[in-house]
Amino acid sequence: MNFLNQIIQGDCEEVLKQFPDNSIDLIFTSPPYADQRKRTYGGIKPNEYVNWFMPKSEQFLRVLKPTGTFILNIKERVVNGERHTYVIELILKMREQGWLWTEEYMWHKKNSYPGKWPNRFRDSWERLLQFNKHKKFNMYQEEVMVPVGDWAQDRLANLSETDKVRDESKVGSGFGKNISNWVGRDIVYPNNVIHMATECNNKNHSAAYPVDLPAWFIKLFTKRDEVILDPFIGSGTTAVAAIELSRSYVGIDISADYCDLSRERTSGIQMQLLNLREKQETYRANGEVELG
Ligand SMILES: C[S@@+](CC[C@H](N)C(=O)[O-])C[C@H]1O[C@@H](n2cnc3c(N)ncnc32)[C@H](O)[C@@H]1O
Repeated sequence: MNFLNQIIQGDCEEVLKQFPDNSIDLIFTSPPYADQRKRTYGGIKPNEYVNWFMPKSEQFLRVLKPTGTFILNIKERVVNGERHTYVIELILKMREQGWLWTEEYMWHKKNSYPGKWPNRFRDSWERLLQFNKHKKFNMYQEEVMVPVGDWAQDRLANLSETDKVRDESKVGSGFGKNISNWVGRDIVYPNNVIHMATECNNKNHSAAYPVDLPAWFIKLFTKRDEVILDPFIGSGTTAVAAIELSRSYVGIDISADYCDLSRERTSGIQMQLLNLREKQETYRANGEVELG
């Protein structure tokens, strides 16, 4: 079966059973969150969430390459006045299943709606849990470097003696630092909080994330032509990011309507890129300077 660059309709657990072992470089996805959006695409009860997810993550584990990464965008909802623990339970179960819980990134949603709740503030972040099969996985940190930022002017201007030597972590974590290494640099490695606005323009799917979110992880964990899987593709956002970055994609969704929407978006972006490349070729052939 040729699954590359396809949007496939079906339950991801069943569809993935037809995929070969160790064939995917990055899985990036946002599954339905427990019991939410019942009216749009069926909710899973918070207490049943882990049992619902485990057979699916078993397939993810099988199809992911040993050097690959799985990023899971998820957030626990509030049930009876407290945060439900299904995400925490899921992490523990996935570790038993054979995954390493390598890291947790936070997506800070810069434009979350203001509001007033009696016992909490507005929810402005979601988890991006990173799971791996092995401790050694592919990671291209240089691809996501960021401008050093304003903090450098104050912090690096007044270096203490300990800043000038490798300052071993006081808690023995092994994460020592030599701050003086960063003097004079324009770009640095980012931290694990990603500040991005939520997607407001995608009127056709109620839970779409911005293209820049999967794009950031695709750059970090894969190279050109490698394969990105989104088993809950929704409106096709992960596939759009993969195409824009010259990677291959596979998208799966249980809803035929969302599959149609994803196919529309992916062929639209492919057309745009094709037109752009044709224009660039013409410029080059005519010896003209490219604009933008
Ligand atoms: C949170 S949405 C994904 C949104 C997507 N990230 C986007 O940007 O549009 C989750 C999707 O999972 C799909 N879904 C639910 N159960 C599924 C299953 N068992 N297999 C595949 N897709 C499923 C839903 O139809 C829905 O489109």
